[in-house]
Amino acid sequence: MSDIRAQGSEDGRVPPERRFRILIVDDEEINLKILRIYLEDKGYEVISALNGEEAINLLKSEDITACICDIRMPKISGIDVLNFVQQHRPIVPVIMLTGFIDINTAVSVMRQGASNYLTKPIDAGELIISVEKAIAHRKLVEEKLRLERENLEYQRDLEKKIEEKALALQQNMLDMVVSLANAVEERDRYLIGHSKRVAQYGNMLARALGLEKDQLRTLHTAAILHDIGKIGIPDAILRKAEPLTAEEAETMQTHVARGVNIIEPVGFLRHVLPVLRHHHENWDGSGYPAGQASDQIPLLSRIIRLVDYFDVLTTARANRQAIEVGRAMEDILRNKGVLFDPQLVDPFLELVKRMVDKLPRTEERIA
Ligand SMILES: [Fe+2]
Repeated sequence: MSDIRAQGSEDGRVPPERRFRILIVDDEEINLKILRIYLEDKGYEVISALNGEEAINLLKSEDITACICDIRMPKISGIDVLNFVQQHRPIVPVIMLTGFIDINTAVSVMRQGASNYLTKPIDAGELIISVEKAIAHRKLVEEKLRLERENLEYQRDLEKKIEEKALALQQNMLDMVVSLANAVEERDRYLIGHSKRVAQYGNMLARALGLEKDQLRTLHTAAILHDIGKIGIPDAILRKAEPLTAEEAETMQTHVARGVNIIEPVGFLRHVLPVLRHHHENWDGSGYPAGQASDQIPLLSRIIRLVDYFDVLTTARANRQAIEVGRAMEDILRNKGVLFDPQLVDPFLELVKRMVDKLPRTEERIA
């Protein structure tokens, strides 16, 4: 290792801010004096402590590069100081000193994490080599920690970027599916804006019920996509001005299965499939396609069933005029526990009462 004075100015002295600060700990002042002379002669900044307690306080408050510590001291021993460093300042190397050669103690302190072990009387050359080695080792450890930190930051950054890309990709796919849903609405002018309104009413009801964010998101997506299967329904049925025949109504009902078939291959939308599949089930089991009843039906499907019905009633369709909001509310109340989950009806009607002035006033709606 190079002499640390090589880092200094022309006279060989290291500027104070760049000096390594060595803490020396010994209960005999003469030893501290000797250590200080050896170390300062080599350009190190030295601070000293006469006992373990003082040493620990200095380790807590000062920026210490390395510590040289006597083992045998009254009250708090050098081993206690070493233990403190190991626990609270593990980056600081500790060189242990003792007045007599004892191989067992040497092995023991090295095992406990001491950087080195020196015997008194201190040999200046040995001391300086030990300190240099300890500092060099500390630098390596710091460099290793820095690289690990950088590596972790890089990994996190990479993960974030991948996540962002995946989200952007999902958003693109969702946009494509939504534009497919819009294409359905474009085919029938009476359907325009229907899915968005269903999503909006559904969101208001779900919030009033205190549903979680994840469920709100799923509900929104399901509401936007709930009628996507109508893309496969012939115009003659979709836009028919007269009431549908039984056979035509049956074909219309296939929009549920068609919708599921369209969304099924889109992996990240799999969680909305059950909601789509059951959005025409009735509370009393009279709906389709599975004839599920009460809480067998997914909650989000029950919500869509209700708000979808409300929007269909209160906007015109190819075969009928819009129904006045008040009458639609009466209709919904009559079907509480029949078509609709009774727990949803009252909160929804409350919301409708509050938002009646804010409902979109299309020319199709009789206000
Ligand atoms: Fe539907």
